[in-house]
Amino acid sequence: MPRAHITLDRRALVAPVRRRTFGSFVEHLGRCVYTGLYEPGHPTANEDGFRMDVVALVRELGSSTVRYPGGNFVSGFRWEDSVGPREQRPVRRDLAWHALESNQVGLDEFARWLKLTGSELMLAVNVATRGILPALDLLEYANHPSGTALSDLRIANGTPEPHDIRMWCLGNEMDGPWQTGFMTADDYGKIAARTAAAMKMADKDLELVVCGSSGSGMPTFGDWERTVLEHTYDHVDYVSCHAYYQELDGDLGSFLASATDMDFFIDTVVATADHVGFKKRSTKKINISFDEWNVWYLKEHMESQQDETEWRHAPRQLEDTYTVADAVVVGNLLMTLLRRSDRVTSASLAQLVNVIAPIRTEPGGPAWRQTTFHPFSITSRLASGEVVRPVIESPVYETARYGEAAVVDAVATVDEDRAAVFLVNRDLAEAAQVTIDVRGLGSSRVAEALTLADPDVYAKNTLDDQNRVVPAANTSAVLADGVLTVTLPPVSWTAIALR
Ligand code: AHR
Repeated sequence: MPRAHITLDRRALVAPVRRRTFGSFVEHLGRCVYTGLYEPGHPTANEDGFRMDVVALVRELGSSTVRYPGGNFVSGFRWEDSVGPREQRPVRRDLAWHALESNQVGLDEFARWLKLTGSELMLAVNVATRGILPALDLLEYANHPSGTALSDLRIANGTPEPHDIRMWCLGNEMDGPWQTGFMTADDYGKIAARTAAAMKMADKDLELVVCGSSGSGMPTFGDWERTVLEHTYDHVDYVSCHAYYQELDGDLGSFLASATDMDFFIDTVVATADHVGFKKRSTKKINISFDEWNVWYLKEHMESQQDETEWRHAPRQLEDTYTVADAVVVGNLLMTLLRRSDRVTSASLAQLVNVIAPIRTEPGGPAWRQTTFHPFSITSRLASGEVVRPVIESPVYETARYGEAAVVDAVATVDEDRAAVFLVNRDLAEAAQVTIDVRGLGSSRVAEALTLADPDVYAKNTLDDQNRVVPAANTSAVLADGVLTVTLPPVSWTAIALR
């Protein structure tokens, strides 16, 4: 049985737990919006056409900021199409996903939906195929109180109060050849800098996100960040990271170690950003907006893509059904984001409903939780106060993809009267026995201990069996004399709340 020992001490603090770490992402893609969160005529729909069963699940998920409206979609999007009287909104082709966009949900409706879910809006502007002026127009429409052409238009459209959107993304994945209007780092850096400078002339307190690489595997990774930040450093606040993982070639061991790659990605981007900052003799720090991360069966998606000729509205796309192993990886990735809260100050699970999402729906039917829903929602509920850097003594195993990886990984948070520990066991066959020295946290009892595991690591929740995989109480968790002991089943994710 693998044995690990962890020491936690409230003197080893990383940074505050940032609510924005628990962000997510809604793109006009597949059935994320249409028949996902919006379905007029559904038995649970409100007067706006929003499914209240989905709203309840989003609230339970505990997602904070929601990035919108894309994604690749944003690079062909005219925001003006999606405001005003619905019957006058044009239907357009979305080249990114080869689908029709009806524009029946736009900024104003989406902002109303966000209020129902208690979330913050993070808006992306199209810098790929549009220019500075449309971005400024959108900013005026969204945030200016009143008395200008576009703020008055918003009011006339039924939204008297400004949306007051703080976080804005300057395009999406501009390094990717799949992106409509993709650019070189130099071209993008210049356009992003000018767009950002103009937006900050309107409101100097905006928080702007410049596009980093769409993955650490991109051939331009590193150089892209350096070049883009050399142009934009003084004007932006965040650089984005995107990362998707999946089990490849039946190598579950490597897949379970995906978080080590995320760590490497964060290290590299932080080092590059700080290098540019140092060259500029700037005291400012650029933080990371990890605004797309998840498990995604991307390889299968690429292989199944045929030359689509038909233009359909809200087709079923990217509706991955997640396993227990996927949920363990998602839980571990979220632990990594938390552990890096010193520099990762915003993140978005991609995406929220139906499209590579923790929540699934059927048109006219139910909404349910995927396996990945659970670690996200439990972490969002339990993590509070400050992130604690754990000292982990764990056996290691060799992975084909990422080299050596620890069998047990962990992170903890501590608040005034509570603490929480999050753990994974990556061992494929054996339970891990873990002892955790919590004397430095001042905790005296276990309030709650939940584990997600299953003898079948590929078990899933489906329409026909929506609760096949749910977290169970871990009764092995005991705290005595300042030492917490717990047994972690093979391929499992665990959260322990302490008082
Ligand atoms: O989240 C799905 C897609 O993945 C997004 O549209 C794009 O930004 C990324 O490639």
